[in-house]
Amino acid sequence: RQKLAQYNTIDDAAKLLRRSRKIMVLTGAGISTSLGIPDFRSKGTGFYDKVRSLGYSAGEEVFDIIEFDKDPSVFYSLAGDILPDLNRFSPTHAFIKLLQDKGRLQTNYTQNIDNLEELAGIDRKRLIQCHGSFATASCRKCGDRVPGSTIFADLRAKRVAKCKRCEKAIAEQAKQPKPPPPPQTKRKPPSKFKLRKNDWESSSGEDEDDDIPSPGVMKPDITFFHEKLPDTFFDRFAEQDSKDVDLVLVIGTSLKVAPVSEMPHHLPPEVPHIFISREAIEHVNFDVQLLGECDDVVVELCRRAGWGLRHEMIPEG
Ligand code: OAD
Repeated sequence: RQKLAQYNTIDDAAKLLRRSRKIMVLTGAGISTSLGIPDFRSKGTGFYDKVRSLGYSAGEEVFDIIEFDKDPSVFYSLAGDILPDLNRFSPTHAFIKLLQDKGRLQTNYTQNIDNLEELAGIDRKRLIQCHGSFATASCRKCGDRVPGSTIFADLRAKRVAKCKRCEKAIAEQAKQPKPPPPPQTKRKPPSKFKLRKNDWESSSGEDEDDDIPSPGVMKPDITFFHEKLPDTFFDRFAEQDSKDVDLVLVIGTSLKVAPVSEMPHHLPPEVPHIFISREAIEHVNFDVQLLGECDDVVVELCRRAGWGLRHEMIPEG
């Protein structure tokens, strides 16, 4: 996209906020770091640097569905670090809620999996969790879906969570009377081999472990690499927002992961784009880039727009 020449300063951004009625807000991990949840790619403090320091070649491996199915313990040993503290949200979340209260929020597309937008009161109908969230979890084997909090204790204890429904089905099965064994045909030992006791005992030649049912592994309903984004993301953007927004606010993201990173290129060229984050990005032309702590920037933007931003932490418990 081409930068629009008429918008450059924070006052331009405040004016745009005041005049817009259909604001699309696109958020990333940077809006939750003030709550102590690490982002992914910040040098030194990001989750992926931590993962690399533990010997994994690429941080993204932790969120790769192929790797998860091979060995879920890698994800479970690390994901506790990015579990949200469910009682707090940041001033930036409160700012998005303020836009909603003023009837100016069209949609909040969030890449975040902490589900804090919901806690802040963003309407489900205006929220697209592009990469899913910890709000629910599903069994990789039977598909049973449960509230995400069901597996939080396992995530915190770095223990792979198993599916309760599968476990129950296995227990039920074990209680059933066993069908009579099929009639035994007398087996002759293979003539060429000298018979040992063990050859005879494990004589079927099959892998006996195959007969032992095991419960499925639970996975939070986060969109992993190699998984498709939720249909709501594509539907809402293609059918509505790509044609009908009047301002785009991108906050706290490195905008490195497709398809979210592609969104600015699919909007009408006259829609102004504002970027709020610690670090500038060069692969998208924003009209106004407001660099700094996003909580400070949104407070200042509200002040200049003449809006009061109330931000209260929800009390513990
Ligand atoms: P990143 O870690 O890539 O980017 C976060 C950006 O926010 C960085 O550029 C930081 O400089 C900036 N930032 C951090 N704290 C900030 C603060 N307090 N104020 C302002 N800016 C701040 O995170 P995302 O762009 O969200 O996927 O990453 C996108 C996706 O990559 C994630 O959704 C995740 C990951 O793989 C999944 O979880 C599946």
